[in-house]
Amino acid sequence: MSYTIAGTGYALPKRVVTNGQLSEIVDTSNEWIITRTGIEERRVLTDESLTELALQAAKMAMANAKIKSTEIDLIICATIRSDTITPSLACTIAEHIGCTAPAFDVNAACVGLIYAMEIADSFMASGKAKNVLILTAEAMSKLVDWTDRSTCVLFGDGAGAVVLQPGRSRLACSMQSAANNGSILMPNTEGENSPFNKHKQDKMVVQMDGGEVYKFAVSAFAKRSEEVCAMAGIVPTEIDWILPHQANLRIIDAALKKMGVHKERALTNIHKYGNMSATSIMVLLAEEIERGRFKRGDKLLLVSFGAGLTSGALLIEY
Ligand code: ACO
Repeated sequence: MSYTIAGTGYALPKRVVTNGQLSEIVDTSNEWIITRTGIEERRVLTDESLTELALQAAKMAMANAKIKSTEIDLIICATIRSDTITPSLACTIAEHIGCTAPAFDVNAACVGLIYAMEIADSFMASGKAKNVLILTAEAMSKLVDWTDRSTCVLFGDGAGAVVLQPGRSRLACSMQSAANNGSILMPNTEGENSPFNKHKQDKMVVQMDGGEVYKFAVSAFAKRSEEVCAMAGIVPTEIDWILPHQANLRIIDAALKKMGVHKERALTNIHKYGNMSATSIMVLLAEEIERGRFKRGDKLLLVSFGAGLTSGALLIEY
């Protein structure tokens, strides 16, 4: 037994930051950002907390799934860093919605949603959970160096949620971790207040070798996607819709070209939100379901790559 998608939700910060506004902060331009990435604007947390966004997304997903919080058996939240290191964001949301099910966070960077869905699948297949709430929530604006034009223009904030219930939607999944080689790193130096530790700490901001990550991303995107297609006994051109991680339009185009798949199959929202790490695919899925894009039986490919270096592809039948 596996799962089906019973309801989805999402929530975004109100504050829109355009490329033009960023060019007043760092040495960049609307033209550079659009041609190199496809991003036009992103959402940035101001007065809201990440917890508030995640809660809104969770309530929307539960309402769409017509499920009460007391019926949820497991809550998993994919996030790099929630408002508190502990309790986990999953536990905080459990408290807010009045649910006492086990709840924990998963850090697989941009691939967090796929990792979380695989964990949920294991719980559901073994009969340990029936209804699972998965959250994704990222506050990348708190993690980037706003003086570094090579990273701060890329990211945005947001939250999403999906309720999974018993069904047969999951067709195949492939996940990997590869050597990081320092290509994406964010040191955790928060609370480095031990009087016994005199080591100099790196700045607590996202550091990325964009070129290295780009090469990894294109290759991992195509490889993981081809693996899940082979597992399910289909060829990539039989996929109805591809929901790729929204890091860079050029990565999506290059990977699809490698796979021989037309780029019209790929759905995107990067122009509006930038890279929201684990939340990108979740918001995309929720928005596309809301606008009625998919019909029952459509084959959807969720594919992502990110810090770790992690990568994963998940093939589901809607
Ligand atoms: N505005 C203007 N110029 C810029 C900017 C900017 N915002 N950023 C970099 N540049 C300059 C560079 O300094 C460089 O100038 P130089 O030639 O004088 O040295 C020039 O633009 C080209 O820089 P590149 O890094 O070669 O640009 P590239 O075309 O590779 O694009 C990018 C950079 C967008 C980061 C790309 O490499 C990329 O998308 N990489 C993958 C990122 C990714 O997928 N991350 C996902 C994981 S994130 C996570 O997990 C948290």
